[in-house]
Amino acid sequence: MPDFSERFSSLPPYALADVPKIKADLIEKGVDVIDLGAGDADQMPPPETIRAIQQAVTEERMSRYPFQRGLPEFRLEIAKWMKARFGFELDPFDEVLPLIGTKEGIAHLPLVYIDPGDGAIVPDPGYYPYFGGTHMLGADVIQVPLRPERDFLLDWSEVPEKKLARAKLLYLNYPNNPTGATASEDYLREAIAFCHEHDLLLVHDNAYSEIAFDGYQPPSVLQFDGARDVAVEYHSLSKTFNMTGWRIGWVAGNSTAIQALSKVKTYYDTGVFLACQAAGVASLEAWERFLPRQVAVFQERRDAAVEGFRAAGFDVEPPRATMYLWIPIPSGEPSVEFARRILQESGVVLFPGSGMGTGGEGFFRVALTKPPERLHEAATRVAKVL
Ligand SMILES: Cc1ncc(COP(=O)(O)O)c(C=O)c1O
Repeated sequence: MPDFSERFSSLPPYALADVPKIKADLIEKGVDVIDLGAGDADQMPPPETIRAIQQAVTEERMSRYPFQRGLPEFRLEIAKWMKARFGFELDPFDEVLPLIGTKEGIAHLPLVYIDPGDGAIVPDPGYYPYFGGTHMLGADVIQVPLRPERDFLLDWSEVPEKKLARAKLLYLNYPNNPTGATASEDYLREAIAFCHEHDLLLVHDNAYSEIAFDGYQPPSVLQFDGARDVAVEYHSLSKTFNMTGWRIGWVAGNSTAIQALSKVKTYYDTGVFLACQAAGVASLEAWERFLPRQVAVFQERRDAAVEGFRAAGFDVEPPRATMYLWIPIPSGEPSVEFARRILQESGVVLFPGSGMGTGGEGFFRVALTKPPERLHEAATRVAKVL
């Protein structure tokens, strides 16, 4: 067999590769495991979405190849939703592209821009495909730490001038996974100006735009002047509508970038299952009815988890958005060891901060993917171990 490529071999190992095995062993021993590791919600998509896919799979046209154009109705509905939600118009065919989940589109975009040695500025900690998608093409991945003292806002002035000259992409993600941080409108305007000044494409991941609390409505970067010249923004149906497994999202914004990504994807995939796009239309149509309940569920969980982990002695800030708590580890124990010990001794799966980059060391993440009483129970068990 040939050797693996250097790029593949230098991918960091998955931080909790042994968790499924430990979890299975615990369950076999009768332990009641509470898994707060992955951001995969336990709720159902809207009933309208289920009905729409049930109907769609009976139609012959839905069984054909979608290609990148996909279902025109889905593109039209996306443009309509972006207008209703953020207040701007988009051309549904030039400035929108359906994706097989945002992760797919995020990972493929660097194929449009990155030659070996080109720079990509990514947050650390950050969602894996920012690093993986650029590293796998031989990019100089410039990881900029998200610091608590800066409210976890990426500070691009930390990028050395020399590296900036070859940088092409700047990844931002607010509301942020894993820190739960949010960005002000001024911060996003500054990001746009910075990208204009340094000839960068701003890649904004807005997967959590709808999971926001206490009346807060996260903005779209595309709503600001000059954004469409330098930015694309990713949106997902996964978190808003509990559709993680359905694999559907979209990217919107700069038409040159969008058309180029569409061309790349013709070589890699043949589009999102059309019936799933029909279901996507139903979800977006149901948004106004569905979202208040969805937000209420996560807000109640956030409050219960914050209270529980505070009572357990942790220093917890309630996030304004996302489905995560990002909590400092008081003992200074490395996060992977901490998470493994908690799992083995309490049956609670937590996500170690360093699993999303060395900048996440010293923290752990709690996903709000269980009802309030289970989150309380998890916090109590963790407290007992400590
Ligand atoms: C920041 C961020 N972006 C994107 C995604 C994935 O979205 P999708 O399911 O649409 O690929 C996630 C999922 O956890 C995420 O945390």
